[in-house]
Formats: sequence, C-alpha cells, structure tokens
Amino acid sequence: MAITIRIFKNADDAGIYVASIAEMVIRQQQHPVLGLATGSTPIPFYKALVNLYDCGLDLSHVTTVNLDEYVGLSGDHPQSYRYFMQEQLFSKTNLHQQNTHVPNGVAEDLDQECHRYDQILQKHTIDFQILGIGLNGHIGFNEPSDTLLAKTHVVHLKEATVKSNARFFESIDQVPNQAITMGVQAILQAKKIVLMAFGEEKASIIEQVILGDVSTNIPASILQLHQDIHFVLDIASASKLLANEKAKKTLGLKVR
Ligand code: PGA
Repeated sequence: MAITIRIFKNADDAGIYVASIAEMVIRQQQHPVLGLATGSTPIPFYKALVNLYDCGLDLSHVTTVNLDEYVGLSGDHPQSYRYFMQEQLFSKTNLHQQNTHVPNGVAEDLDQECHRYDQILQKHTIDFQILGIGLNGHIGFNEPSDTLLAKTHVVHLKEATVKSNARFFESIDQVPNQAITMGVQAILQAKKIVLMAFGEEKASIIEQVILGDVSTNIPASILQLHQDIHFVLDIASASKLLANEKAKKTLGLKVR
C-alpha cells in the first residue's frame, strides 16, 4: 500500500500542490488524461490549474473525463456538472471541448449512455484522478452499499447525499435523486489518485477511510488498495488523524 498524506494549512495551498502534480503529469505524457471531480472541494485546484495555464501551461493535448452527472440536468443547467466544469476550468483554458467528457444526464437511453461512457473510459486510461469525498464516504456517486459496481451506472442518491447537495440548489426538491457515475473500476485503474478533503466535517470519514477496514459501506476505503494514492487534507479534515498519536507516528504525519 503506497499512501501519501499531505496536510496543508488551508485548501488554497492544497489546491496549488495538487495543480503542480497535475502539471507534472500533463508535461510527462503525450496524451494525458485527467479524471475530474465536481463539488466545492476541487475548486481551489481548478483555480490553481487555471493560474498555471495563465502562466503558460498548455492543456490543448489533454483529455478530461468527469466522474459523474445528475440525471435530468442538461449541460446548460447551472447545477449540472458539465456547467460547473465549463465555469471552473474548460472555458478558462485551451482545453478542447471535444476532449472533455462528462456523462450526458439527459440521454434518452441511460443504459446506453453508461455503455458509451465506459467505451470512452476504455480508450482513455486515466493518468491522474482527482477525487472529493462525501460525508458518507462516497467517491463519484458510488454510494455506500453491500456491493460496489465496477462499470458506469445509474445510481439512486442516498438521502444524505441529496441533503448535502441541496446547498447548491434553491430548494431540496430541485436536487435530482439519480445520477450517472463512473464505477470503481475506472477510478482504481487510474495511475495516480489524489483525494482531497477540507473542513472539520470531513475529519471523521477521513479517519475511517485511512485507518479503518476496506468496506463497500465506505466506498473510499477501497482506495487503500491503490498503488499510488495521495490524501491531500487541511488541518481540520486531518484533525482526527492528528489526534491519534499512533496513527501520526505510523503514517509519518507532519504539519507546519
Ligand atoms: P464537496 O462534495 O466537495 O462539495 O464536499 C464532495 C462529494 O460529495 O464527493
């Protein structure tokens, strides 16, 4: 198990660090593939990546694949993940639109859409996957369950997830209760993974994911099995790990 844990003072510093890893991957590969995530967590990373683009980093040869999309929201809906990506990254850089992939939440045939997305993933092994984490341990929209699905699939969102995501909508009734999500196979096949988590409310799930057993009821715990996994935290999300003297020592945790 090759776990690296980096704890920063704040999310902005963490975002700059993760963007510098992305730059390394982008410059090393001829056809780099980035696996991207939405939510509030990756925003500092996108800001830093746009800054790097403004300073000369070329993204014209980069392909991106996003983790998920709400069912029922089209790409021009302000709460859709395609729209989020457009706002945060795509429109601000020289990424080619045709090289950016997000599941189509308004596809007529959702099963076919999942299949289409898996074909894209088969053609584009992810070099660098960024992840946030739900309070319940979900990655993408792979929700806690007795089983985890390998392939792209339609998922019924857990009540806790709908509640948590309501902050982005005018009311909870507007939050879609279904999404299309990449399965765990494409995530685990990524060559390098960075999971970011910020804020005290993530401290407990981060402790469970890193110190607990691997369990489908905490989907992110499966990342313990990955060969090149990095947890990028702030002091608040790392607070439970830092309070555990044994873990602090074994994991070599340090914070300035
Ligand atoms: P957040 O969401 O970044 O908005 O906290 C993360 C997630 O649910 O995966």
